[in-house]
Amino acid sequence: STPTTPDDPTAAASEPVSNTDRATLDAARRRRTFAIISHPDAGKTTLTEKLLLYGGAVQEAGAVRSKGRGRDVTSDWMELERRRGISVTSTALHFSVGDVTFNLLDTPGHRDFSEDTLRVLSAADSAVMLLDGAKGVEPQTLRLFEVAKARNIPLLTLINKYDRPGLDPLHLLDHIEETLDLKPTPVTWPVGIPGDFRGVIDLRTGAFHRFERVAGGSKVVPTTILTPEEAAESEGDAWTTAMEEVELLQAIGAEHDHEAFLAGRTTPVFFGSAVSNFGVGLLLEALMELAPPPSAHVDLEGGHRPLTSPFSGFVFKIQANSDPRHRDRVAFIRICSGHFERGMKVMNARTGKPFTMSYAHEVFAQERAALEEAWPGDVIGVVNALDLTIGDTLYASEPVVYPPIPSLAPELFAFARNADTGRTKQFRKGLQQLDEEGVVHLLTRVNGDPTPVLGGVGQLQFDVAQERMATEFGAAIRLEPTPYTTARRTDEGGEAALRHHSQAEVLVRTDGTRLAVFQSPFVLQFFQERNPDVLLDTMLTR
Ligand code: G4P
Repeated sequence: STPTTPDDPTAAASEPVSNTDRATLDAARRRRTFAIISHPDAGKTTLTEKLLLYGGAVQEAGAVRSKGRGRDVTSDWMELERRRGISVTSTALHFSVGDVTFNLLDTPGHRDFSEDTLRVLSAADSAVMLLDGAKGVEPQTLRLFEVAKARNIPLLTLINKYDRPGLDPLHLLDHIEETLDLKPTPVTWPVGIPGDFRGVIDLRTGAFHRFERVAGGSKVVPTTILTPEEAAESEGDAWTTAMEEVELLQAIGAEHDHEAFLAGRTTPVFFGSAVSNFGVGLLLEALMELAPPPSAHVDLEGGHRPLTSPFSGFVFKIQANSDPRHRDRVAFIRICSGHFERGMKVMNARTGKPFTMSYAHEVFAQERAALEEAWPGDVIGVVNALDLTIGDTLYASEPVVYPPIPSLAPELFAFARNADTGRTKQFRKGLQQLDEEGVVHLLTRVNGDPTPVLGGVGQLQFDVAQERMATEFGAAIRLEPTPYTTARRTDEGGEAALRHHSQAEVLVRTDGTRLAVFQSPFVLQFFQERNPDVLLDTMLTR
């Protein structure tokens, strides 16, 4: 038996003593919980569909999207999503390949929903960074990368759209390293120049996977694999060039280093074409072989909760009315330890109240299947969990509290006015609920003016709030601009120091968090210089 030390997180998954412990450890070992981060249009939807296709979860790619579109959608939230052609909702997709179970946490690509992505990443053990081979690292990739980096999430990189003209592969590696300070370690290497893509060399085996252009790629396509000798013969100069580049890579020492990858310092790189299904199988294999399974989760005190401890998890996302057939509110919980069984009684660490998880669902796209049991790494959706909010820890028998989920300091602020004074109750309730779901931050002024202020990082958050207030709560709101553009977390001292300021004030969030808001970064800077002792922090939690 191996001794366990408190500072070794893997060892914290103490020795299996019972059959349940053994089952938990075995299930956790086989789980891969990951998200895809990318800039809009890089191919995330396409890749998601292809992963599901190759994971056997759908028979035909295109199902995820067309299902959503074809349905008789009555939810106005989804209506907004359709009109704008953007994805507002996040879903957790669950599928298995061999004995590995994947939980793919979908993240909205639009910048305005970055807060949502931040929460989703808090529930992922790894992420795939998807880049467009012609564009490299784009602004939203960078933003999400920084979030992933702050959490040390291991990243695998897929360079997509390699069937099209794009950037030279060595140039792309330099670009990744320079832009992200992350060392790329290619696992596959492209043969042929961008625009005349022939396939990839699997650097682990030397085998050549031949690229074949497929129309639509709605079905799994078998890949032709050639030996290096066969490839040299069929690809000629393109092969020679690729081999020279591979030698160069070997000379600079760009091999996969597992420890550095797990620490978020290097990223294994793959080249592919999601639309042609090319590279999707290799990426899935890499997720199985390289991406880390769940490990002991760190709690608020910095301790590690062993995987075999009784059930625990935290709420990382709340989604209302995701399915027009069930007008409801789903709380998504990431399981950190133990075995979950439907109907089990758990405690909410925040409220100290017991809670029966009778309606746990596994969420697949928009379809729901009642879930009987789940394990560390899995995501469960609890329906109509009205007293759960983002960041809540749930546990069975052995108490634990997980750290709050980080959120971004709002950059946009608007006064929310009740357009129909007869609907005051609905107005209050609606805003409260949107705040709990993390759609917007609900803030109150400390100067006595009762008009609520909404905060967020993007205009679309306000559009969603406005639309849902009108359609879901029957309380139309008018949004009016405020002069504020910059915010920092502060405390009582900050509130006192800003009391009579003409270009700044303090707003209080529902959970008591104080936000100092300023009319410009310049006002903030000036205030900061004059009040060096006042707390002004960029980090918030939910
Ligand atoms: P997103 O979710 O990241 O926003 O991207 P999405 O998958 O919707 O893909 C954006 C566009 O890029 C789509 O084209 C898609 O077909 C295309 N695409 C995705 N992967 C590849 C690839 O490997 N190679 C090439 N050449 N194109 C790719 P679209 O014209 O916007 O839509 P569609 O009508 O083709 O669906």
